[in-house]
Amino acid sequence: MPTILITGSNGLVGRELIRAFDKLPQYTVIATSLSPDKIMQPDVAFHQLDVTNRKEVAELFGDLLPQVVIHSAAISAPDTCETDKALCNKVNIEGTKNVADACKAIGAKMLFISTDFVFDGDAGPYKEEDAPSPISYYGWSKLEGEKITQTLDNWSIVRTVLVYGDTVGLNRSNFVTWVKGALEKGEKIKVVNDQQRTPTYAPDLAYGIVKATEWLVAGKANEIWHISGPEPLISVYDMALQIAAYYNLDSTLIEPIASASLNQPAKRPPVTGFILSKAEKHLNYKPIEFINGLEKLAL
Ligand SMILES: NC(=O)c1ccc[n+]([C@@H]2O[C@H](COP(=O)([O-])OP(=O)(O)OC[C@H]3O[C@@H](n4cnc5c(N)ncnc54)[C@H](OP(=O)(O)O)[C@@H]3O)[C@@H](O)[C@H]2O)c1
Repeated sequence: MPTILITGSNGLVGRELIRAFDKLPQYTVIATSLSPDKIMQPDVAFHQLDVTNRKEVAELFGDLLPQVVIHSAAISAPDTCETDKALCNKVNIEGTKNVADACKAIGAKMLFISTDFVFDGDAGPYKEEDAPSPISYYGWSKLEGEKITQTLDNWSIVRTVLVYGDTVGLNRSNFVTWVKGALEKGEKIKVVNDQQRTPTYAPDLAYGIVKATEWLVAGKANEIWHISGPEPLISVYDMALQIAAYYNLDSTLIEPIASASLNQPAKRPPVTGFILSKAEKHLNYKPIEFINGLEKLAL
């Protein structure tokens, strides 16, 4: 029975992964995160782990001997990475190196979670073979993480796009909870209409990662997978309008704006989104559309 160790289990993606793997009797699941356990999933052992602490990572992996490590922990906020490059380097690059080296030492396979921000956004939607060209420090740090991952003998990289899902009990919000919360309070919000994405329902991403893990465990070729919501591309502003319509909230509170007028520290790639044909063909990946994700979320 393969043991799967997941880093960043208290995060939006990490928690969804714990839930998905815990349902599968063929795996033993170990959750790890920087802060104390927020998941409290029965049957899942939790260990507090700072991936920037090289010795701690090596010792924990050496004690637990997982067959697969899914590395989800990261500084995931692009603006934090842009304004605190030292922290971004430490977690997203050195932390990934610590995880990769500890995997090598025990012969574990590694699956790294990466992002559409490795692309410049000039020519989305993207397929796996397209050349990365990040325009933000976050995107660059994640691309470095991909390169580190590819130094293992057995690796997998899953890139994803704008994930939305259940954030109850977590430290963070996501786009759906932010828009819904603001409109419910009658607050005006500004939302960019020049960024297009294929937003990803968190349980769909978890399913795609489970399938990519099966591929890795089966000893098939090392692969990059694009796992996101389906095409067509949708602008972030249109996502906000769909959220307002779905929850019967006042869409006139949403002001469309251009990205440049937001003056955010990190540049965002204008048009990303993914072409999913590889994952559809090999992983039987069939994601749901944004509107169906809202229905399933039932916030
Ligand atoms: N969310 C998206 O839209 C999106 C899109 C593309 C790619 N991704 C990628 O998906 C992965 C997961 O993202 P997410 O949305 O789940 O992010 P998140 O909610 O911000 O969670 C990140 C997790 O990383 C953990 N972490 C931070 N520093 C750490 C450290 N030094 N040691 C160990 N753990 C640490 C945090 O732990 P604690 O909470 O315990 O402090 C947190 O739970 C990331 O690699 C991100 O780049 C996310």
